[in-house]
Amino acid sequence: MKHVVVLTGAGMSAESGIATFRDSGGLWEQYKIEDVATPEGFARNPQLVLDFYNQRRKDAFVARPNEGHIGLAQMEAEYKMSIITQNVDDLHERAGSSRVLHLHGELAKVRSTANPGLIYELTPDKAEIHLGDKAEDGSQLRPHIVWFGEAVPMIEEAMNIVQTADILVVIGTSLNVYPAAGLLQYAPTRTPVYLIDPNEVRTSQSYVHFIRKGASEGVRELRRLLRNAL
Ligand code: OAD
Repeated sequence: MKHVVVLTGAGMSAESGIATFRDSGGLWEQYKIEDVATPEGFARNPQLVLDFYNQRRKDAFVARPNEGHIGLAQMEAEYKMSIITQNVDDLHERAGSSRVLHLHGELAKVRSTANPGLIYELTPDKAEIHLGDKAEDGSQLRPHIVWFGEAVPMIEEAMNIVQTADILVVIGTSLNVYPAAGLLQYAPTRTPVYLIDPNEVRTSQSYVHFIRKGASEGVRELRRLLRNAL
């Protein structure tokens, strides 16, 4: 079975109603990254940061996987599939994908500010955390999210996965944020890359087939192309 490695970003979940970051109307037009997605922002105004992620979490809980997520999950019947996502929603898992690595953390999880290993899962009926909500070690709970300026603990595992790709697929990411964007470079030489995005995305990668479509239509097209190519 060919190993298809898929790197996804916010555009993957756009058709599920989850806002992207850098498109016009995206989240980073409404919020400053340094206020809501950095350790310094959390130290300055923790309630603002908790509220920001409480809202993101509630949006994610009501969202449903779109045809793109579902199409990728169905591809497990034909390929070995590995999904590496920058997204913090769980729509790939809910669509049925079995191998999903979250590079930037998970909205449904929160953790102790003192002990990164003390992680708890929230549910739709208890989707918020507030100042004063504590882990068992007595420290404040925080979102289980990788903020700007923090280490990306899953990056090495992601590199190892990309190194074993027969086919690399990139969906709905502006490739602006490192180290995630640098993952493409770990694919073996001449690995075909399929890049699905309705807008232009700049990459220095060779052998790129651009599919200028949204995620749902793009995944359908990808499956057609792969069937014909292999
Ligand atoms: P961006 O918002 O930077 O990019 C979203 C991409 O999705 C753009 O290239 C859009 O053209 C594309 N897009 C929009 N609608 C689409 C659709 N229907 N189908 C497919 N693609 C579509 O989001 P990311 O690249 O994911 O990190 O951002 C990377 C990281 O920056 C995020 O994980 C987040 C953010 O700050 C943290 O918060 C740590």
